[in-house]
Amino acid sequence: MPLIEWTVQLSVGIESIDEQHKKLINMINALNEAMLTGSSNELLGKIFTGLAAYTQKHFAYEENMFAEYGYPNSQEHKRQHNELIAQVVELKEKFMENPQGTISADLMLFLKRWLTNHIMRTDKEYTEFLISKGVK
Ligand SMILES: [Fe+2]
Ligand SMILES: [Fe+2]
Repeated sequence: MPLIEWTVQLSVGIESIDEQHKKLINMINALNEAMLTGSSNELLGKIFTGLAAYTQKHFAYEENMFAEYGYPNSQEHKRQHNELIAQVVELKEKFMENPQGTISADLMLFLKRWLTNHIMRTDKEYTEFLISKGVK
């Protein structure tokens, strides 16, 4: 069973963004799977680096939308993005320094909450606004 299951509860109602969230979920699930099956540190490191990079890309996509349509809560949302990026980059760096001790069930649970809390609490706040601007 994957660590994170996509359900409509995670949908923000905008297809392009849902697709990106699904991709992030897949990357976290892949990291979990690789950890559980005892994959090499090299592979774990690659997935982790990919997750950090794609997170940055996804956040930039949302922030471009905010700028384009004048989303009123963009500052607080961006502040959260910056915090989330700092967290995932720090975890990735810790892993790179000490691959043995870092990837664990606790870390995976952290990443699960790290992503799903942001989607459900913060991303969903822009749904109505962006849809009203015609974003799909
Ligand atoms: Fe998002
Ligand atoms: Fe966001």
